[in-house]
Order: sequence, then C-alpha cells, then structure tokens
Amino acid sequence: MSQVPTVTLSHGSTMPRVGLGTSPMNDADAERAVRTALELGYRLIDTAENYRNEVGVGRALRGAPRDELFVTSKFNKRWHSVDGPRTAFEASAEKLGVEYLDLLLIHWPNPAQDRYVEAWQGLIALREAGLVKAIGTSNFKPAHLQRLIDETGVAPEVNQVQLSPVWTKAAEREFHRQHGIVTEAWSPLGKGTELLSHPTVQAIAAAHDRSPGQVVLRWETQQDVVPIPKSADPGRLAQNLAVFDFDLTSDELAALDGLDGTAKPPADSDRSGH
Ligand SMILES: NC(=O)c1ccc[n+]([C@@H]2O[C@H](COP(=O)([O-])OP(=O)(O)OC[C@H]3O[C@@H](n4cnc5c(N)ncnc54)[C@H](OP(=O)(O)O)[C@@H]3O)[C@@H](O)[C@H]2O)c1
Repeated sequence: MSQVPTVTLSHGSTMPRVGLGTSPMNDADAERAVRTALELGYRLIDTAENYRNEVGVGRALRGAPRDELFVTSKFNKRWHSVDGPRTAFEASAEKLGVEYLDLLLIHWPNPAQDRYVEAWQGLIALREAGLVKAIGTSNFKPAHLQRLIDETGVAPEVNQVQLSPVWTKAAEREFHRQHGIVTEAWSPLGKGTELLSHPTVQAIAAAHDRSPGQVVLRWETQQDVVPIPKSADPGRLAQNLAVFDFDLTSDELAALDGLDGTAKPPADSDRSGH
C-alpha cells in the first residue's frame, strides 16, 4: 500500500497531497470506491452535503483508523450565517459517522446572497471548538478571499478550485501562495475528456511510460496543488495515487502550462445553485 506525501496547512494539520473526489457517486458507488481507495492507500476523501453520498462514504470509513484519515466536506448556501456552519457540520458528521472533520469548506461564495463572511465566522468558531481541524473555501476568487481576510483577519487554509493544464489559474495560485492558502484542484483531470487525449499530454506520458492522467496529476502535485481526481475504477484509482515517483522536466511543465485556455471556460464561480 502506498504512502501519500502530505502538506502542512497553516493551522498545523497535515493533508495528503492527493485525494479521492466522490462526485458524481451515489451512496452505494461512493461506499465501493472509498473502500477500494482506502485499501490502495488513499487517506483524503472529498465529499459534500451537495453530493448526497455522505452516508455511503461514512459506511466505507467505518473501521479505518480515524487519525489516519483526512475527511473533507462542504456545505451549501443555506448555511451562510454565523450559526449555520455548526448545523451543517452536525448533519455531515452524523451522516459520515465521525466526531470531527479534517476540513470543512464553504462550497461556493454565492456573492448574490452575500453572506459568505458570516459563514466564514461560523467556520472559525467551529475550528476553535475543535469540531473541524481545518477550514477553507471552494470556488472563491481572490476578491472573495481578500474580503474574508480583511473582515476577519483569518485566511482559509485551503481553497478548492477548478484547475488543470487547460485552466491553470496562475494568478489565483499566486494569491493563495502569498496568503498561505493551499490550492486544491477539482476536475484535476479535466473530467477525463479532451485534456487526456491532447497530443502534448500523450507525448509526455509516452516519454515517462505513464498514463496521461498521471502526467496531468504530476503537473499539479509538482506545483504544490492537491488534486482530488474522481475514479470508480480500481485500476485508475491506483494510477492516480502513483504520481510521486517520477518528475516532469521544466520544459514538460511549461508545455502543459501552454494548454491554458484551450478548453471552454469553467463553471462560473458566482453561480448560486447550491
Ligand atoms: N468544489 C466544487 O465545486 C467541485 C466541483 C466539481 C467537482 N468537485 C470535486 O472534484 C472531484 C473531481 O472532479 P471531477 O469528477 O469533476 O473531474 P476529474 O477528477 O477531473 O475527472 C473524473 C473523470 O475522469 C475519469 N478518470 C479518473 N481517473 C482517470 C485516469 N487516470 N485516466 C483516465 N480517466 C480517468 C473518471 O472516470 P472513472 O470513474 O471511470 O475512472 C471520471 O469520468 C469530484 O469528484 C468532487 O469531489 C468539486
């Protein structure tokens, strides 16, 4: 079983440098995938209230040594108030069957609702109470993050954003770096579509005798981005974890950077669907 390297977050937790994304999976699929992932050595499991699979994820976690796991969840916009995150935490923790979460994220800033600063205050209180070990955001742009910092003096430990070689978000990553925020990548494989068949990715994969998915995940991990690829397939789950025993050259990293902007823009982070 492989040991995944970790990164230390600003409040002291250690977070695995690659994890398993569980959307879209229902309870049964999530239970199966998380069980396989844990056997392979995954420790970071990413779920959310919105995925409606926390019960299945929790079933798979039962019996695993709690202190070795890094369980992440996220809450929806209805909990954007000072007290809301506590209610959201209690619901997620009960479904997952855990007493604490390793990381809880505000899923979207929902600027039209404009209550994400209150949600952030609620998360700070949850961390002070020891119910969550680390707190963060998802889909926050630098302006949203700056406002949290200005109004509370506390920066998120993690910001989870859509990121891959076709959407590199260099300026956002730089902002994160300056504020001690770890960048976590959702859709790190570009959802497994055109990115993986791009000739540049294919050529680098052939040069290293690795799969295109491994090359893309190495581009992320080599730049201190934590990817959470989703897979329900045991072979691809194993591949996606085995990305720390080879290095891309600076030319290869630059060639992958060159794919920035070659896919259609990602979902608007202002969307307020959940
Ligand atoms: N915070 C947010 O707003 C947000 C939004 C979207 C997603 N997320 C999180 O990010 C996770 C990952 O994002 P995602 O599922 O959108 O996209 P992704 O991880 O980039 O791609 C997943 C797709 O790639 C396939 N795949 C996995 N490993 C592969 C490999 N090595 N080679 C080829 N294909 C591979 C998977 O199929 P198989 O299952 O068949 O392997 C699946 O179809 C989600 O599960 C979720 O936890 C967060």
